[in-house]
Amino acid sequence: MLPNVLQPREADHVPVLAEEVRQSLAVGPGETVIDATFGAGGHAAILAADLRGKGKLIAIDRDPTARTYFERLAERTTASARLLRGDFGVVLPQLAENGVRADAILLDLGVSSMQLDRPERGFSYAADAALDMRMDPSAELTARDVVNDAAERDLAEIFRRYGEERYARQIARAIVKRRGKQPFERTGDLVEVVKQAIPAPARFGEGHPAKRVFQALRIEVNDELGSLERALPAALEMLRPGGRLAVISFHSLEDRIVKRFLRAEEHGCTCPPEFPVCACGASPTLRATPRRAIRPSAAEISRNPRSQSARLRVAVKLG
Ligand SMILES: C[S@@+](CC[C@H](N)C(=O)[O-])C[C@H]1O[C@@H](n2cnc3c(N)ncnc32)[C@H](O)[C@@H]1O
Repeated sequence: MLPNVLQPREADHVPVLAEEVRQSLAVGPGETVIDATFGAGGHAAILAADLRGKGKLIAIDRDPTARTYFERLAERTTASARLLRGDFGVVLPQLAENGVRADAILLDLGVSSMQLDRPERGFSYAADAALDMRMDPSAELTARDVVNDAAERDLAEIFRRYGEERYARQIARAIVKRRGKQPFERTGDLVEVVKQAIPAPARFGEGHPAKRVFQALRIEVNDELGSLERALPAALEMLRPGGRLAVISFHSLEDRIVKRFLRAEEHGCTCPPEFPVCACGASPTLRATPRRAIRPSAAEISRNPRSQSARLRVAVKLG
C-alpha cells in the first residue's frame, strides 16, 4: 500500500501502475533515483519515500509547470532533490557524459493530466484553444506550424503512423484545402475540418473523431519517439550494476522502441545471424524482468481510465 501522505491530490495527475513501479524499482535508502518524467511528482513522491531521507532524487521534466509540484515534494523529503528542466533525450545523455550514476530510473511517457486538462495548452480536442501542444512552451515548433506548413503527404504520414488514423489521407487533403483559404489558429477549427473529412458513420465510431489526429500531432510536435530513442542508451549507461530501469508507455510505437532496445541489450551480440561464432565480443548488458510488459489491473483501469493503454517494461543492469 502507498503511504497516505503520498496519495495524489485531487485534480493532479494520478500515477499509473504506481505500486508496480515501486516494486520493480525497489528503491532503498542511500540510492540515487532519476525520475525523467516528473510531471506532478506522483511516482517521484513514492520513490522518494523509499529513500527514507537518505540518497538522491534527480527529477527531469521539459514542462516548467512541474516546478510547483517539485517544490511541494522537495519540502516533504529530507533526501537531496533537484529538478532539471529539459528534454530527457538531451538531459540524460548530458548526465551520463558527466559521469552521473543511478540505481533506479523511471520514464513515464506521454502527457500528464494537467497538460491535457488545461485547454490553453492546446492538447485537447474537447476545448477550443490556440493550436499549441508543446510540452515545453519555449520550444520552437507548435501544432499550428505543423498543421499549416507540413506537406500534405507528410501530414498524412504523421496521422497514419502516430495516430493509426484510417482516414489520414482524406484528413490531410481537407487540411491543405482549408489552409489555402485561411491558416489554422485554433484547435476548434481543426476538429471541425477532421469531422468533415471523415465519412459520417466514422464520426460516431470509437471515441472522439479528432482523438487520433490530436495524438499524432502531439507526438510530432514534441518529437516524442526521437527523445525516447536518445534517452534509453543514456539511461542504461547511467545505471550502476544491479540498477533498475522502468519505462511506462502509452502508445504501441513507444512500447516497440522500448521492447526492441531491451531485447537487443539482453542479447548483447550484434553479429549477423549467419556468423557461426560471435565476432563482435559484445555481451548482454541487462535482463528484462519480467520479460513481458506489465499491464494495469481491471481495478486500476476502472479507477483511472487513462491507465488503460499503459505498458510497463522493467530491466536490471547486469554487472
Ligand atoms: C505521464 S506524465 C508523468 C507523470 C508523473 N509520473 C506523475 O506521477 O506525476 C509525463 C511527464 O513527462 C514530461 N515529458 C514527456 N516527455 C518528456 C521529455 N522528452 N523530456 C522531459 N519531460 C518529458 C511531460 O511534460 C509530463 O510532465
